[in-house]
Amino acid sequence: MEPASQRSRAAELASHRGHYGIDGGRGAVTGLLWPVGGGLLLLGLSLLPLLSKPLLQRALEFLAGAALLQVPASFFYSTMRGKFAVWGELLAALDLHGNERILDMGCGRGAILAMLGKLVPEGRAVGLDLWRTEDQSGNSLESARTNLLSEGVADRCELHTGDMRALPFPDGSFDLVVSNLAIHNIPEKDGRRKAIDEAIRVLKPGGRILIADLFRTEEYVERLEEAGLRAVSCRPLGWRFWFGVLGVTPRLVTAEKPASGTPPPETTPTDLVP
Ligand SMILES: C[S@@+](CC[C@H](N)C(=O)[O-])C[C@H]1O[C@@H](n2cnc3c(N)ncnc32)[C@H](O)[C@@H]1O
Repeated sequence: MEPASQRSRAAELASHRGHYGIDGGRGAVTGLLWPVGGGLLLLGLSLLPLLSKPLLQRALEFLAGAALLQVPASFFYSTMRGKFAVWGELLAALDLHGNERILDMGCGRGAILAMLGKLVPEGRAVGLDLWRTEDQSGNSLESARTNLLSEGVADRCELHTGDMRALPFPDGSFDLVVSNLAIHNIPEKDGRRKAIDEAIRVLKPGGRILIADLFRTEEYVERLEEAGLRAVSCRPLGWRFWFGVLGVTPRLVTAEKPASGTPPPETTPTDLVP
């Protein structure tokens, strides 16, 4: 695809009509009260004309206040705009044919799933989730369904309630598996490893995996490499995906299942006790 048409495709994918909630749910919003409170206090102190203090001190308070306030600003930008822009570009660059079967593991209210639906008029975009409201505000099967209808893609999408550690799909049934900000929500390393193994299992030979996450991406890379996937890569996703989390570099992990001869992962979903 020409760069100009890829850019306009990405922008088209990123624009949305549905309501996709806040990632991290109430816990994230409550956690943001600290930097908001601290930031406002420091800005107030730096600007208050009544207190006599050196200019340098005022400048430092002002800068520290501004730095704290950019944490919520970055978070809300990423969850409401940035992730859509980033995924629009990632998906537009894939040059899909439109007849693929795609799985979104931990689809939540359907932000990425709806974009996938737009890309597969003759295929299928399948979303699976446990609909945890602690991971996304207003998360539910019903809210995801409503969003798919608002985006006009409900006819080519499917929603399943399930755990990504035990996917209810046959081996080799998807051309592409994606997951956004979801796998790190599994608390145990072994569980995250099972989710990666499941993604590999349901992927067709030659199929691709794209995982964007804030944390644990080094584990995903390790498991994909151990399982014999090709072209395993990990790269930073940049400021639009920063989510205000200090000291964290959100990353995209990509890999490709070899056309044949992939050794099966060591664990199987039958080990699972959901
Ligand atoms: C931060 S939300 C992101 C949702 C969506 N991918 C997006 O970008 O809008 C994380 C999602 O992972 C889901 N999730 C967490 N653990 C899961 C599991 N074991 N199996 C399936 N979904 C899970 C949560 O219910 C939530 O919808």
